[in-house]
Amino acid sequence: MRNDPRKSTVMNVLAKPADLEAAAPAGAFVEEVTAVQHYTDRLFRFRMTRPASFRFRSGEFVMIGLMIDGKPLYRAYSIASPAWDEELEFFSIKVPDGPLTSHLQKIQPGDAVLMKKKPTGTLVNDALVPGKRVYMFSTGTGIAPFASLIRDPDTYEKFDQVILTHSCREVAELKYGEDLVEQTINDPLIGEFAKDKLVHYTSVTREDFPRQGRITDLIKSGKLFEDLGVPPLDPAIDRGMICGSMDMIKDTKTLLEEAGLTEGANNKPAEFVVERAFVG
Ligand code: A2P
Repeated sequence: MRNDPRKSTVMNVLAKPADLEAAAPAGAFVEEVTAVQHYTDRLFRFRMTRPASFRFRSGEFVMIGLMIDGKPLYRAYSIASPAWDEELEFFSIKVPDGPLTSHLQKIQPGDAVLMKKKPTGTLVNDALVPGKRVYMFSTGTGIAPFASLIRDPDTYEKFDQVILTHSCREVAELKYGEDLVEQTINDPLIGEFAKDKLVHYTSVTREDFPRQGRITDLIKSGKLFEDLGVPPLDPAIDRGMICGSMDMIKDTKTLLEEAGLTEGANNKPAEFVVERAFVG
């Protein structure tokens, strides 16, 4: 192991599940990483084992952590896998000096990850009143909760059309969503619904790409609706879910409100819901 560069800097952080079981904080599961895929120097996804007792609603998030200097450090992560998947998947940013992600980005299959036991969140089908079409507006890692929702049969039962928008700085950052949508359409279970109802709409803001611009600008100019061949936002039939940075949420929310949609919550379903894509 002399040549393993991970050893020198993060020896006290990355551990095997068996090593952590004894030291695990109360209220947390110790799970094992099963796969890791890096997309760019800013983005990666990882999969891990799922505790048999763990249940969640598509679109919810959970606290994921590592033991750092003997203490657990957690950040909120949307669950990207569908409820029927036997593993759990997460899509993460890498923040160079991020207290958690500077370590988490180095995990490999076999390493241990902590997960708090209770999922929560507002990006759930139950927080929306019935409608015809649902827009899932995402930027960057904000696509994660929608990766779960577009693989949930309930989403297709509730809506005739599911429009997943994903805008990123660079073309390579779209790859996670492109693979996801392709797998969803070809999935033996969910593909039947997704083929007819799911639309993937992408744009890039800092590189050449066939469609450029922020999602907010594409809404404002009407290009989004023109490209999709649908009428502008209508509170009678359209529903929205928003996940991205604080600024992206604020600006997209304003546009939905200007179109007459109102914000909902778990205890008060309405026409759109929001959740911040977490970083750290
Ligand atoms: P831009 O390149 O113009 O900043 P980030 O990785 O910083 O979260 O950005 C992901 C995507 O979200 C980028 O394409 C970025 O565009 C876009 N974005 C950033 N702020 C906003 C905003 N206020 N409204 C809409 N899109 C935004």
